[in-house]
Amino acid sequence: VNHKTILITGATDGIGKATALKLATFGSTIVMLSRNLEKSKAVENAAKVNFPQAKFDHILCDLADLKSVKTAAAEVLLKYPKIDVLINNAGGIFNTKSLSKDGFEMGLQVNHLAHFLLIKLLLPRILEYKENPRIINVASELHKFDKLDIKDLNLDHKFSGWTQYANTKLLNILSSKYLSQTFGVQGLQSYSLHPGVVRTSFGTNNTGIWSVFNKLPFMMTAEDASKTPVYLASQAVEKLSNGAYYKKSALASSSQKSYDAKLAIDAWQASNQLLEKAGF
Ligand SMILES: NC(=O)c1ccc[n+]([C@@H]2O[C@H](COP(=O)([O-])OP(=O)(O)OC[C@H]3O[C@@H](n4cnc5c(N)ncnc54)[C@H](OP(=O)(O)O)[C@@H]3O)[C@@H](O)[C@H]2O)c1
Repeated sequence: VNHKTILITGATDGIGKATALKLATFGSTIVMLSRNLEKSKAVENAAKVNFPQAKFDHILCDLADLKSVKTAAAEVLLKYPKIDVLINNAGGIFNTKSLSKDGFEMGLQVNHLAHFLLIKLLLPRILEYKENPRIINVASELHKFDKLDIKDLNLDHKFSGWTQYANTKLLNILSSKYLSQTFGVQGLQSYSLHPGVVRTSFGTNNTGIWSVFNKLPFMMTAEDASKTPVYLASQAVEKLSNGAYYKKSALASSSQKSYDAKLAIDAWQASNQLLEKAGF
């Protein structure tokens, strides 16, 4: 049994929920950053059916609203002197163009920018803890279809939900690369992963190809898909490779572009500039 403090986004459903339920059985405190607190507490209740000692906390965090992300980070900093693991899991495909409260394209904000802000605000506290803290980004194989343009992260010029999803999942991988490159010497570990193709509520807010996608017969369960994030959160650091991309709890190749160290820096700076312009 360990006593880690594990922060996770998007754990009210799908892969994140399965990840939280599993990690809770290891004796960790699961801090759920959720936009729906009722749904969040229901996960705790579900965990306690089989594991009554499970420890949970619930912090309101709407990733589509950067002010809410900032308030959530402040609450984390107030309550938790030590953060062992941050799992950036929430995400979705936004097929029709919509804007967040902050004026960013929704896919960019929910899948990438909001998590970027969370990392930025929590990083000093995460780095204080010297025992190899981890930041885990849940990406996707679909990152291989990216058309990332650092100067147009918001896709102001030509919007496609599919492309933006691929772009943001590449940004998740690049963010792990950047964090390991830059803060690895201070002990920070960062990994990204593909969970597998899963039948979750993912894609159900869409019609057309995405709704079909979610009904494919070969999909695994959310519990199966949680194995890789659980592995990366709990495996001994010596057995893991800092900055790497994982599939099926093993090292995997990501796209050629994702290994571009300069692109990782450029993506980090471009994201930071967008946040600064928005006042964060
Ligand atoms: N499913 C797949 O086949 C697949 C494949 C590759 C990668 N992935 C990745 O795996 C991750 C999890 O996907 P999933 O399939 O488990 O999705 P899911 O079942 O749709 O769950 C998404 C989670 O994200 C949360 N979320 C969405 N928008 C939010 C917001 N604005 N603020 C706060 N939380 C928000 C949802 O909260 P609510 O409960 O409040 O809606 C939910 O907890 C994503 O990053 C996805 O890109 C999934």
